[in-house]
Amino acid sequence: MSLARSVAAPAVLNIADLRRAAMRRVPRVVFDYVDGAADAEVTLRANSSVFDEVLFRPRTAVAAGRANLEVTVLGERFSLPFLLAPVGSTRLLYPKGEVEAARAAAAAGTGYILSTLAGTSLEEVRAGTHGVCWYQVYLVGGREVASAAIERARKVGYTALVLTVDTAISGLRERDYRNGIAQLLASNPFRKLPYVWQILSRPGWLMRYLSDGGLMRFPNVVLPDGPMRYAAVAAALEQSVVSWADLKWIREIWKGPIVIKGLLTAEDARRAADEGAVAVVVSNHGGRQLDGVFPTLRALPEVVEAVGDRVEVLMDGGIRRGSDIVKALILGARAVLIGRAYAWGLGAAGGAGVTRAIEILTADLNRTLRLLGCASLAELDPSMIELPVDFVRGRRRASRAANVGEGAEAEADGGVRFSGVH
Ligand SMILES: Cc1cc2nc3c(=O)[nH]c(=O)nc-3n(C[C@H](O)[C@H](O)[C@H](O)COP(=O)(O)O)c2cc1C
Repeated sequence: MSLARSVAAPAVLNIADLRRAAMRRVPRVVFDYVDGAADAEVTLRANSSVFDEVLFRPRTAVAAGRANLEVTVLGERFSLPFLLAPVGSTRLLYPKGEVEAARAAAAAGTGYILSTLAGTSLEEVRAGTHGVCWYQVYLVGGREVASAAIERARKVGYTALVLTVDTAISGLRERDYRNGIAQLLASNPFRKLPYVWQILSRPGWLMRYLSDGGLMRFPNVVLPDGPMRYAAVAAALEQSVVSWADLKWIREIWKGPIVIKGLLTAEDARRAADEGAVAVVVSNHGGRQLDGVFPTLRALPEVVEAVGDRVEVLMDGGIRRGSDIVKALILGARAVLIGRAYAWGLGAAGGAGVTRAIEILTADLNRTLRLLGCASLAELDPSMIELPVDFVRGRRRASRAANVGEGAEAEADGGVRFSGVH
């Protein structure tokens, strides 16, 4: 069966089906690297379940045709209101996974953000697609190493830098430890033995992995002795904290737009705007860093309220359906990023799986908009959702301080209609 057919309907109808398909195709250690998150994974679950708390208030008896899903982000016109988030090491999921994902994004008319921790070089990804690519920066290896990568990104035509600021240290991804990542990377074969069954039980994946050169390195992190090795990544991340001070030198060497990814509060959003960012991504890294933070959808209105008139506000985390995207847009996001949704597609069927993930979300978006009675994203209206009491965190705090209700009006039934930011 072709890869595209393996993820076609009716076997794969939604993103959860794609996730299950990925689970069957890739070794557990690789699947859990994508699927898992930090500590007790409270934030991972909350990022998705929070969407269930937001209810639609549709306009019925409206004959809306196929919806216009176009958005403009950083001056680029995209056909869809979602871009592909930076996801490290996708080459483990499928050979040259980064090129496959970037191509699928371009074919759908959307953008792709390449991670510093990609397994494919930024030149190869850029050359492999005609679409819009942005480069995500970690300061792994230090300032010199990051500067060299930024210069390479500029040369080959990446149009924005995405600076991820929520990785002062890597979160504790417990599944990775239990699956023996460290042992599998160790040179001593005896240490690997208890864990190799995961690899051997996925011969199709193993053949592709070996044909792609085996364990990847990080070609965008070029250290004095060559591209960084896989085993060195956790230690390297610990020495690569991005601080506000770094924005200064980064702005000197990069004249294009800078996006700050990984903030959750009005305070940090204001700081990002003050430091010259043109966009922010409200993100908790898909629950992979500090467990127990706010799910991003709940942090979004506070950030929109604080800086929505100064910078473009994007969000990511927990998006599994097109209706999730619509809710985020109504709450003020200009566009969203998807992470696991496309990474599972890549694991399930390479580029065809990413295309399928995009197709599923696009069809969802169209259906949701038409059922809401909207012909385009521009027609989405804050009165089309109802939020639980206390959902809008920043407003609640602000209104308590000022002793006035701002924007979020308590309804008689206890729900709150959102009538403020967009
Ligand atoms: C396996 C994996 C690797 C990731 N690697 C990176 C990365 O290298 N850089 C980065 O800024 N964010 C990274 N992220 C976070 C994503 O960019 C994004 O914030 C997150 O996946 C959104 O949540 P979602 O997966 O629920 O859509 C990664 C996420 C996953 C799942």
